[in-house]
Amino acid sequence: MDVLTAMDTCTAMRYFKADPVPKEDLEKLIYAATRASNPGNSQGWAFLIIDDPKTKQVVGAKVLEGMAPFFANRPAGRDGVEERMLVGAEHLAKNFAGVPAWIVGMARKVYPPHDPQDSFMHSTIYPAAQNMIVAARSMGIGTCFTTFPGHAEAEIRTLCNVPDDLHMFVYVAVGYPQRDFMPVRRKPIEEVLTWNRF
Ligand SMILES: Cc1cc2nc3c(=O)[nH]c(=O)nc-3n(C[C@H](O)[C@H](O)[C@H](O)COP(=O)(O)O)c2cc1C
Repeated sequence: MDVLTAMDTCTAMRYFKADPVPKEDLEKLIYAATRASNPGNSQGWAFLIIDDPKTKQVVGAKVLEGMAPFFANRPAGRDGVEERMLVGAEHLAKNFAGVPAWIVGMARKVYPPHDPQDSFMHSTIYPAAQNMIVAARSMGIGTCFTTFPGHAEAEIRTLCNVPDDLHMFVYVAVGYPQRDFMPVRRKPIEEVLTWNRF
């Protein structure tokens, strides 16, 4: 699959088969992530793969507890994509432990070396995570980029012995898709592109 087709059909997958993703394929996703552009090639990223059933259960229970008030009063989606996101996110939270693997994308505050800034942690981890989800799509593996498992950050830190200098940013659900990939719905470029001068 060419890279533009992978990007075009890289819909967030929130429904997964139970089959595990082979370790080599999960490692390929980390390889893809770590090919990304990053500030000054500082590579302040780190990735934690959680596929241990017990850990997923404990973390999943905490995530659900944190999200429960939102799900109890959740707004309706403003369009089909947002409604699909909200319904799917609830499914994902409720089935946290059933997701074959969760990849936590983290970063260290190391750039620029003379005056490290928080913003460069974001600019380190987000391109890496995007590389990861596009690579996964090309391999027929579904992913969902999420932030809501942040409710269980403390539990993840303790259970997985995460060093204090690592900041957690993204939690990517990974597994074989139970639903079809679809073309992503994004604005046409005419709406967002300006040549030379607004
Ligand atoms: C920074 C970031 C945070 C996101 N957080 C969540 C999340 O917590 N839960 C979720 O289900 N999807 C999350 N998503 C996925 C988006 O909701 C999804 O990309 C968007 O709704 C468009 O859907 P599509 O990618 O399937 O076209 C996140 C995406 C990004 C880039």
